[in-house]
Amino acid sequence: MKVLLTRRLHDFAVKELQKRYDVEIHAGKIPMLKNLLISKIKDKEGLVCYPYDGIDKEVIDAAPKLKAISTYSVGYDHIDVRYADTKGILVSYTPEVLTRATADLTMALVLAVFRRIPEGDRLIRKNKWKVIFGPNEFLGTDLYDKTMGIFGMGRIGKAVAKRSKVFEMNIIYHNRTRLSAKEEQSLGVRYVSLDELLKKSDVVSIHAPHTRQTNEIVNLKLFRKMKKTAFLVNTARGKIINEKDLVVALKKKIIAGAGLDVFAKEPISASHPFAKMENVVMMPHSGSSTVETRRKMAEICAKNLVLSLSGKKPIYQVRI
Ligand code: DGY
Repeated sequence: MKVLLTRRLHDFAVKELQKRYDVEIHAGKIPMLKNLLISKIKDKEGLVCYPYDGIDKEVIDAAPKLKAISTYSVGYDHIDVRYADTKGILVSYTPEVLTRATADLTMALVLAVFRRIPEGDRLIRKNKWKVIFGPNEFLGTDLYDKTMGIFGMGRIGKAVAKRSKVFEMNIIYHNRTRLSAKEEQSLGVRYVSLDELLKKSDVVSIHAPHTRQTNEIVNLKLFRKMKKTAFLVNTARGKIINEKDLVVALKKKIIAGAGLDVFAKEPISASHPFAKMENVVMMPHSGSSTVETRRKMAEICAKNLVLSLSGKKPIYQVRI
């Protein structure tokens, strides 16, 4: 069978695939241009892709032999999963192994915005630290006793709740479906409406998937409901936020700041309005980017493809 990788995976994972299949690895410009992808996928049974590869109807239609798509990500909003399903193509992904790393980065962004870490670092590097330790110097915000508002209580939302508890925060959440009373109790979280989440939170952290329903769901109307002192953190998907509205909310001080790992269009450049704001901390889409996690993702990604192509259930199949 023939398999296409839109980018190189870890060597050990590539070897596993090469033992079984005729593997073609795209080595040129990333992301692979759509026309090139369409021409390369024509004769392939398997595809390994990444969150920036748009696997839409056109791509799927160009691949009459395709049986399995394995994405190196927990998000799968870049794949038309419904259409793939109508063609009998199994779509698999890599959740669970990246939960902790993504939750850790979320807390890192929370700390970075609350305690102004990148701003302090810049201040010193620019030789602007002139006034020594004092009652009003470089004040940040305590995490203790503040309210963490989690929007989307899946695996990563729950891992963020656990970490927030350690920082002695109050935790509220909003989700499509409410957790069981037992789980709420063990996580120490309280279910609230979206309105209450926005009004009460000192930090609103996004952990929902990007879908038609959540596209730009976080907009000016919602920012206006938040506290002026509150921060927004997003390690989920950029398109969940209306970024133009976020720029307005930050400029007009409708909210206090933002920690962003994801953006509507990636990579963003230094000329983006976010990059000019002291109260915004950014990361280059790195939620799962640790040596250990990315290795585990490669292992799952390769195994998912092998299982799917041998007619078995992948470890993690995307369910629609
Ligand atoms: C994912 O896996 O979907 C993440 O966004 C990648 O870090």
